[in-house]
Amino acid sequence: MIEVKKLTKYYKDFLAVDNISMTIRKGEILGLLGPNGAGKTTTLRMLTGYFRPSSGSIKIKNFKMPEDTIKIKSLIGYLPESAPLYHNMLVYDYLEYIARIKGIDDKEKRYDRFLQLSDLCGLSSIMAKPIANLSKGLKQRVGLAHAMMTDPEILILDEPTSGLDPNQIAEIRDIIKSIGKEKTIIFSTHILSEAEATCDRIAIIDKGKVVADDTATHLKQNSKHNSVIKLSLKGALKEDAASLLQAIDSSLDVKNADPVEEGLVSFEIINSGNRDFRPDIYLKIKETDWIIAQFSKESQALEKIFRELTSKEA
Ligand SMILES: Nc1ncnc2c1ncn2[C@@H]1O[C@H](COP(=O)(O)OP(=O)(O)OP(=O)(O)O)[C@@H](O)[C@H]1O
Ligand SMILES: [Mg+2]
Repeated sequence: MIEVKKLTKYYKDFLAVDNISMTIRKGEILGLLGPNGAGKTTTLRMLTGYFRPSSGSIKIKNFKMPEDTIKIKSLIGYLPESAPLYHNMLVYDYLEYIARIKGIDDKEKRYDRFLQLSDLCGLSSIMAKPIANLSKGLKQRVGLAHAMMTDPEILILDEPTSGLDPNQIAEIRDIIKSIGKEKTIIFSTHILSEAEATCDRIAIIDKGKVVADDTATHLKQNSKHNSVIKLSLKGALKEDAASLLQAIDSSLDVKNADPVEEGLVSFEIINSGNRDFRPDIYLKIKETDWIIAQFSKESQALEKIFRELTSKEA
C-alpha cells in the first residue's frame, strides 16, 4: 500500500531523515516511535506530500510522489502535530467549513458524514460548543474528525495523544483502534505502551534512521532483556534469597528491588535468554520455608529496547 525507499531529508545541511525504507500494508496500524527530534514529523510530512524529500521515493497504491502528489493527498487524512483548528468557531461550523473545502457540496451528504464522524469521534455533546472552550482531548477528537472528513483510506496522525491525560489517551486510542479495522494508519508517538497497545507494527526511529521495525512481540523476543521476573518473599534474608536465586542459572541477573510491602524482600530477575525460569524459581523456593508474596513476569522489555536503540550514547 505504502512503499518508502531511501527517503532522505536535509534541512539546509542538517540531515533530519536518513535513508528510511519501509513498507506499510493495507489495513496495518504502524506506530512510528522515537524520541524528540528523531525525524517523525519530517517523515510524516513527506508521506503526506507537505514536504518534498531531498532524495528517495514514496509510492502509495500505484501513485508516486511528486507526480501524483494531489491524488496521494486525496487518499490521506492527516492530523498534524498541532491541529490547525479555528478556535472562534463552533465545532459544527468548523466541520461544515472543512466539509465544504473538501468538496462535499451536497447538504445531505455532509449531514450524514457529520453523524458518522460524531459517532466515531464522540462529538455529539460538543457540536454546539466553541472550539476555544474544549479540552485538549476534545480538540484532538475534532482534529481527528477533520482528518477523516472524506473517509480517506489512509490516516497519518502525528502524536495524536500528545499532552492528553490518561483517560483522554485511552479514548483516542479506542478511536484509532476502531478506525484501524478498515484503514491503514501511521501514527507517531513517544509513548511506548501506546504503540504496543495500538499498533500491529512498530518502527523505532532515532536521529533520522529506522533502528528497528517489527511487531512488539518480535521486538521483545529479539531483545537482550527478554523478560523481568518480579519476586517478593516473606521470611527470607535478602542475601540468602539472592544467592539461592542466582545459583539457579548464571545467565540470570538477580537485582535487589525496593520491597513492595514492609517485611518483604523483593527482587527483579532479568532473564536474557528464551527459557522461562519461573518453574525453576518456584521449585527452589518450595525447598525453603519462605512464602512467595509476589511472583510475576513483566514485559518491560520494549522500554529497554527503546532506550538501548535511542540512547544518546548509542
Ligand atoms: N523546518 C525545519 N528547519 C530546520 N530543522 C528542522 C525543521 N523541522 C525540524 N527540524 C529538525 O529536524 C530534526 C527532526 O525533527 P522532527 O520534527 O521531524 O522530529 P520529531 O521526531 O517529530 O520530534 P518531536 O518528537 O519533538 O515532535 C530535529 O532535529 C529538528 O530540530
Ligand atoms: Mg514531531
